[in-house]
Amino acid sequence: MRKKVSIVGAGNVGATAAHWIAAKELADVVLIDVVEGVPQGKALDLLEALPIEKRDVRVSGSNDYAASANSDVVVITAGIPRKPGMSRDDLLHTNFKIMSDVVQKVVEQSPECILIIVSNPLDAMAQAAFRQAGFNRERVIGMAGVLDSARFRSFIAEELNVSVENVTAFVLGGHGDTMVPLPRYSTVAGIPITELIEPDRLEALVQRTRDGGAEIVKYLKTGSAYYAPSAAAVEMVEAILKDKKKILPCAAYLQGEYGIDGYYIGVPCKLGAGGLEKIIQIKLTPEEDAALKGSAAAVKELCAVIGV
Ligand code: LAC
Repeated sequence: MRKKVSIVGAGNVGATAAHWIAAKELADVVLIDVVEGVPQGKALDLLEALPIEKRDVRVSGSNDYAASANSDVVVITAGIPRKPGMSRDDLLHTNFKIMSDVVQKVVEQSPECILIIVSNPLDAMAQAAFRQAGFNRERVIGMAGVLDSARFRSFIAEELNVSVENVTAFVLGGHGDTMVPLPRYSTVAGIPITELIEPDRLEALVQRTRDGGAEIVKYLKTGSAYYAPSAAAVEMVEAILKDKKKILPCAAYLQGEYGIDGYYIGVPCKLGAGGLEKIIQIKLTPEEDAALKGSAAAVKELCAVIGV
């Protein structure tokens, strides 16, 4: 039987995630949104593209969570996006209310699912979803590191004029101004980028990665990025559905790993059929460690505001 993925929020991120999933023929897709007609219309439009793309999956849309019943994976993108001048943290209160409501309804319909959280501010929303769902940490994972690393990888590939396939990168920490790109663990065909890019250029690429979301918001003016965020979420979905045991940077609930206890933060994770199957602990320099702890402190502050 085909797998089933529901996506809550049929805005740009949600609809584009549905597109990637259908294009990769990963699973049947259900789009859920509160806005009457939007999930239905986008789903039908996507369904009608599939004979051309030669993909056999069902795509449907609904305003009713019953349509999402018994999903294997549920991706939550619901919430308001940023406008120019706003930080991800400015979305906290509105998106917390939305997240709590959505997670309750999702869990009622799919008590066995794995949740992938995409809404911002990411780490705090993942924490809110984890508390609301009552699932173990293996089944509530936040998307951010894959996106931030993909941005860093694009900039590195462009800088060196090499294939993006040659570039791996790790960005840890929270999905915000305190994120922690790790050049030491970023490579081109196995060669650390610290050997290939001068320190001041490298610092510029790191800063552009930190500002990656804001750079897009500034261009779009009415919303935030969606191609790369949705592709990142779908890489996580694919790793889970295909039990790939893939190591990806994701927001996970730490229980002492990296000296952080009781918070979501971006770390290297192994994703497979069980969801978060392992948190990989890598050695950090004192500076990297301090940056990660600083990032966790920022997440902790947000979580305290909403009491999760
Ligand atoms: C970004 C937003 C979606 O990084 O967080 O583009």
